[in-house]
Amino acid sequence: MKFFVDTADINEIKDLAKTGLLDGVTTNPSIIAKEGCKFLDRIAEICDVVKGPVSAEVAATDYDTMIKEANKIKTIAKNVAVKVPLTMDGLRVCKELSDGGTMVNVTLCFSANQALLAAKAGATFISPFVGRLDDIGEDGMQLISDIVDIYGNYDFKTEILVASVRNPFHVLESARLGAHVMTAPPAIIKQLFNHPMTEKGLASFTADWAKTGQSIL
Ligand code: E4P
Repeated sequence: MKFFVDTADINEIKDLAKTGLLDGVTTNPSIIAKEGCKFLDRIAEICDVVKGPVSAEVAATDYDTMIKEANKIKTIAKNVAVKVPLTMDGLRVCKELSDGGTMVNVTLCFSANQALLAAKAGATFISPFVGRLDDIGEDGMQLISDIVDIYGNYDFKTEILVASVRNPFHVLESARLGAHVMTAPPAIIKQLFNHPMTEKGLASFTADWAKTGQSIL
């Protein structure tokens, strides 16, 4: 499963990129607003740091403006994925860009039928928002399971990008279900490295090693 980080914080991105385990980045207008950065410049900066897909979202909601924005965003770097909302106009933009060879991430997916439409529109990624479904009392991971089943029935190339990930359980279940990608905030990704038994074991190994009085270097 590929790991994307859901942030525009360049320091967090650089930090995670150092592990060699970061496959891409996702952003959205709220993330850009929170960072208070210049959108086009920051996306270019991120594309320099991470060679995998970097999702940058259009701001408009009508076809004419969205396609103009998308055509500008796609020139930022080769690894930009233009992010469009799952609306009729958004999918029209998706089809046009995908036909022309541009990566497209279709965002704000909350149903399996929406995911089916995005695949038919040639989306590179479909982003079902699991955390936001959990927030309204629905089962976000059930949606992932449904999409995995449906896509498996056909020859769709669209990758399932689990979004709105709020905890390590979402990551684990995404992997168990065979989702292609998950995107999570930096804190959630960092949480995945930790286990109290690892810390405890390491502390005792370090203490015992000190008793030997040796140095490897
Ligand atoms: C994904 O591309 C979105 O940016 C993101 O996962 C949304 O997460 P949120 O529901 O925590 O805002």
